[in-house]
Amino acid sequence: MTATTSPTANPYTRANPFLARIAENRALTRQGSEKETRHIAVDLRGSGLSYQVGDSLGIFARNPPEIVEELLQALGLSGEETVSLQGKTAPLREFLASQFVLNRTTKKFARALAEKLAPGASRDQIQALCQNEAELDAYLHGRDYVDLLRSHPGASFGPEELIGLLSRSLPRLYSVASAPAVYPEEVHLTVAVVRFHTHGREKLGLASGHLARQQPSESRDLPVYVQPAKHFRLPEDPATSLIMVGPGTGVAPFRAFLQQRAALGHTGRNWLFFGEQHRATDFLYEEEFLEFQHKGVLTRLDTAFSRDQAQKIYVQHRMIEQGEALWSWLQEGAHFYVCGDAHRMAKDVHQTLIDIAHRFGGLNPEEAARYVNVTLAKEQKRYHKDVY
Ligand SMILES: Cc1cc2nc3c(=O)[nH]c(=O)nc-3n(C[C@H](O)[C@H](O)[C@H](O)COP(=O)(O)OP(=O)(O)OC[C@H]3O[C@@H](n4cnc5c(N)ncnc54)[C@H](O)[C@@H]3O)c2cc1C
Ligand SMILES: NC(=O)c1ccc[n+]([C@@H]2O[C@H](COP(=O)([O-])OP(=O)(O)OC[C@H]3O[C@@H](n4cnc5c(N)ncnc54)[C@H](OP(=O)(O)O)[C@@H]3O)[C@@H](O)[C@H]2O)c1
Repeated sequence: MTATTSPTANPYTRANPFLARIAENRALTRQGSEKETRHIAVDLRGSGLSYQVGDSLGIFARNPPEIVEELLQALGLSGEETVSLQGKTAPLREFLASQFVLNRTTKKFARALAEKLAPGASRDQIQALCQNEAELDAYLHGRDYVDLLRSHPGASFGPEELIGLLSRSLPRLYSVASAPAVYPEEVHLTVAVVRFHTHGREKLGLASGHLARQQPSESRDLPVYVQPAKHFRLPEDPATSLIMVGPGTGVAPFRAFLQQRAALGHTGRNWLFFGEQHRATDFLYEEEFLEFQHKGVLTRLDTAFSRDQAQKIYVQHRMIEQGEALWSWLQEGAHFYVCGDAHRMAKDVHQTLIDIAHRFGGLNPEEAARYVNVTLAKEQKRYHKDVY
C-alpha cells in the first residue's frame, strides 16, 4: 500500500464505533513537568479498521465514576432510576457516565436551578446572575454541576428532567501518531491531559482525562473510529521533501510521517521543528526523534524550548533563524505541514512563512502573502494544516 492509497471502507464508524483495547499508557513528559502528555496505544486487532498517516482517531469517553456519584449525591438521586434517551432505556447512572458533559455546567442548568430554589439569599444570588449574561458566564467559568449544587443546595430534579438540562458529550479526535506500515493493527496517540483545579475541586478533561485513567488490559471497552484526514497527507512522490512544524501534541502526526517514510524507504528529506516548555521534561519522543536523526531519516531537527530561558523561544523563531535554508527547501518543492494549537501558534507560523518569503525570497509583502496563501496553499497544494 502506498501512503496515499484510499483505504477500503472501514467497518466501524462514528455511528458504529469499535470497542478497542488500551495496549499501552505511559507518560511522555517527565517528573517535574508542568504538563502531563501521554502516549496511548490503542489495539485495533479484530476490527478490520485501517488508517493512514494524517488521520485522527475518534474517542467516546466516559466521566469518572466518582464525579457521577458526587452529582447523584448532590441531587439526592440513587442512580438506579430508569430513564429513556433517544429510544434507549438505562439506569440514570449509566447515562450520566457515558452520554453527558459533567465537567462544566451550563446557563440552562443555572436558570433551571434558579427557578427551583426556595426563596432566600441563595436563590436571590443566582437569579440576579441570570439577569446578566456576562456575569453569569464569568460565574459559571470553571464550575461544574457539583460546584453549583453544593453552593446552592435544596433544589430537586426528576431524573428525566435532569438529563433534559445536561449537554450531550461528543467524541474527541486525536491525531494518529503511528504509521500503518509499522503498526497496521495499532494506533498511537499523543494526549495532553486537561487538568485544572477550580472552586476547591480538581476537574479533568472528558476524553484526555478518560484516556489518562485507562490501564492497559484485556478489556475491549473504548469506543473508537477512524476519522480520515481530508488533505493532511504525505505527498504522492516519495522523493518530496517535508518541512513539519509540530509543537506540543502537534508533533503526533509527524512521528507517524517519519515512521511511514522510514518503513517505506521514501528518499525525500525530512525537517522537523518541535517546541515545548522545557527540554529536560517535555521533549516528547526525544529518543525516537534523535534516533531518526541518527539514521538520517530526519535530515534536520530544530527545537524551541520556550521556558528554558528568560525570553520565550517558539518554533517560528527557529524558522526565521533558518529562513534561508527553509526558503530554499520550499523553492526545491518541499511540502510544508503545521499541526497543533490553532489559536496562536498556527497563526504565528503562518505569518512567519510570509515573513520568510519576504526576507529570504525577495518578494514584497503583498507578493509574499500571495505566495503563501495562494501559490503554496491553493495552487500547488504544498501547505497542509491540522490545527485545533
Ligand atoms: C483534528 C484534531 C486533532 C487533535 N489531536 C489532538 C492530539 O493529538 N492530542 C491532543 O491532546 N489533543 C488533540 N486534539 C484536541 C482533543 O480533541 C480535545 O479537544 C482535547 O483533548 C480536550 O478534550 P477533553 O475532552 O479532554 O477536554 P474537555 O472536557 O473538552 O475540556 C476542555 C475544556 O476545559 C476548559 N478548561 C481547560 N482549562 C481550564 C481552566 N484552567 N479553567 C477553566 N476551564 C478550563 C476549557 O473550556 C476547555 O475547552 C485534537 C483535536 C482535533 C479537532
Ligand atoms: N480544548 C482543550 O482544552 C485542549 C486540550 C489540549 C490541547 N488543546 C489544544 O492543543 C494545543 C496543543 O497543546 P499542547 O499542550 O500539546 O501544547 P501547546 O500548549 O501548544 O504548547 C507547546 C509549545 O508551544 C508554545 N507556544 C505557545 N504559544 C505559542 C505560539 N504563539 N507560537 C508557537 N509556540 C507557542 C508553548 O510555549 P509556552 O507554553 O511557554 O508559551 C510550548 O512551548 C493547545 O494549545 C490547544 O489548542 C486543547
